[in-house]
Amino acid sequence: MLVSYINNIKFENPVLVASGTYGYGHEVSDIANIDSLGGIVTKSVTLEPREGNPPPRIAETSSGMLNSIGLANLGVDSFCKEKIPFLNELNTNIIINIAGSTFDEYEIVMSKLEKLENSNHIGYEINISCPNVKEGGMEFGVLSDMTEKLTSKLRILTDKLLIMKLSPNVTSISEIAKAAENGGADAVSAINTVVGMGIDIYTRKPKLYTTMGGLSGPAIKPIAIANVHKIYKEVSIPIIAIGGISSASDVIEFILAGADLVEIGTLNYTNPNIGVQIQHDLIKFCKENKVDKLSDLKGKVKYHV
Ligand code: DHB
Repeated sequence: MLVSYINNIKFENPVLVASGTYGYGHEVSDIANIDSLGGIVTKSVTLEPREGNPPPRIAETSSGMLNSIGLANLGVDSFCKEKIPFLNELNTNIIINIAGSTFDEYEIVMSKLEKLENSNHIGYEINISCPNVKEGGMEFGVLSDMTEKLTSKLRILTDKLLIMKLSPNVTSISEIAKAAENGGADAVSAINTVVGMGIDIYTRKPKLYTTMGGLSGPAIKPIAIANVHKIYKEVSIPIIAIGGISSASDVIEFILAGADLVEIGTLNYTNPNIGVQIQHDLIKFCKENKVDKLSDLKGKVKYHV
């Protein structure tokens, strides 16, 4: 009922967790039933270790969250040594998120991961849309020719799933999605965070050290649905929807808009098991509404005219 595929890769259910909201899995393994998820997307990995931006780097907003973490991570070499062994023990699909600032950086990180003989990861999500640092690849994600070139360079390096993660902070997200498809991506994921800012009225300081950051959570869900639908109308590769999902009905909205799979992000912070709960509610919805396969609903929104 909930099984989905990207190419020949099977997802037991369409509910994954988004990069940066689940660490590398072991951080939440005591409190969450990770193996029941459709998959985990790891926190972004870069070539070199990064401390990230100074605090404050997270701030709460109405129905959402601002963040400017700045790609804090341990770098690909330590990731391979310290994180891959735990990830390998999991019984769910592992997707490694890669960030970089040059073609070379993305290519070197991917080559190192491809050389691992003992890793079970089934694919890569390529972050070309981090709003918080130059190294987040934003310059790739706003230009369609750069997106296509990066995608095709990475395509040559791997037979695993290649998923390009797209930014909503662009003029035409469907053009960027088309470029990813032309470059040979297996899927796109959308949306990354929306550029946002908050100010403490007493100190008059921005709520984030970097002044602006990325807004996520239920506040951005309608923006995400519109962007997923724009992409759906333009490309034929699968779409992984991200943006403020907090319930099974949110997942169904995204599937009707054209999504194949979804990633839960910000809501993991309030309940790291929300992805598992949502699956139970999706099964209930399918039974009650005589839906044989959730994937039958893809793109089935009915316009008023
Ligand atoms: C970060 C934020 C993002 O929205 C993203 O896609 C990747 C990284 C960060 O600040 O670390």
